Amino acid sequence: MMEPVLDWEQRYQDAATAWERGALNPAFEVWRDQLGIDSGIVIVPGCGRAPEVVEFAARGWDVIGVDLAETPVIFQREALANAGLSGSVEQANLFEWNPPVPADLVYEQTCLCALHPNQWRAYESALHRWLKPGGHLAAMFMQKEGEGGPPFHCGIDAMRNLFHEETWQWSEQLYRSEHQIGVCELAFLLTRR
Ligand SMILES: C[S@@+](CC[C@H](N)C(=O)[O-])C[C@H]1O[C@@H](n2cnc3c(N)ncnc32)[C@H](O)[C@@H]1O
Repeated sequence: MMEPVLDWEQRYQDAATAWERGALNPAFEVWRDQLGIDSGIVIVPGCGRAPEVVEFAARGWDVIGVDLAETPVIFQREALANAGLSGSVEQANLFEWNPPVPADLVYEQTCLCALHPNQWRAYESALHRWLKPGGHLAAMFMQKEGEGGPPFHCGIDAMRNLFHEETWQWSEQLYRSEHQIGVCELAFLLTRR
C-alpha cells in the first residue's frame, strides 16, 4: 500500500500547524535530567519550527535539524543565527539522509506521528542507524483518541513492537504531557543497543 503524500510545506504556508506548542515541551527538562549530559551530537528529525533546536544549541549540543519543508528550515537557520548560535539545519527527506557521523541523541517530537505507519519500520531503522551504540532516543509518543491522521496514534504496544527490546532498551515512562492535537504524549528515553 502506498503511503499518502502530505504537502508539509503547504501546511506551513497555510498556517495549518496546530501541532506547534510555541514553547519548549515540558518533558524537555525531564529528559535532560535523565540523560545527565549536555554535550554531543543531537539530531532532530522533522524539526519543524520546534524551539528545542535552538535550546539544544544554547545548552552546548551540536544540533542537526532535518526537515523536508523549506519554511521551517529557513526559520530554524534564522533562529540560530539570531541567537548567535551555531547548528546545522538541513532540508532533506529523512528517509534519504544520514548524519556525517553517528549521533549521541535523537530527539523525536511529533515526527513519528506525522509519518504514515507504513513508513514506521524504515523510520525506526534510520534512527537506529543514526545513533552510536549506547546513544539515546528521546521519544514522545503521541496518543490520540480514535484512528486517522496525521497525526497517527502511536499506541505503546505498537511502539514496543516497533522499537523492540532486542535493539532498544526502554526507560520507564518519564512524563505525560497534554497536547492540543492529541490526547497526550508519553515520554520515554530509549537506549540504542
Ligand atoms: C507534525 S510536524 C512536527 C514538527 C516539530 N517536530 C515540532 O515539534 O513542532 C512534522 C514535521 O516533519 C516534517 N517531515 C514530514 N515528513 C518528513 C520527511 N520524510 N523527512 C523530513 N521531514 C519530514 C514536516 O515537514 C514537519 O515539519
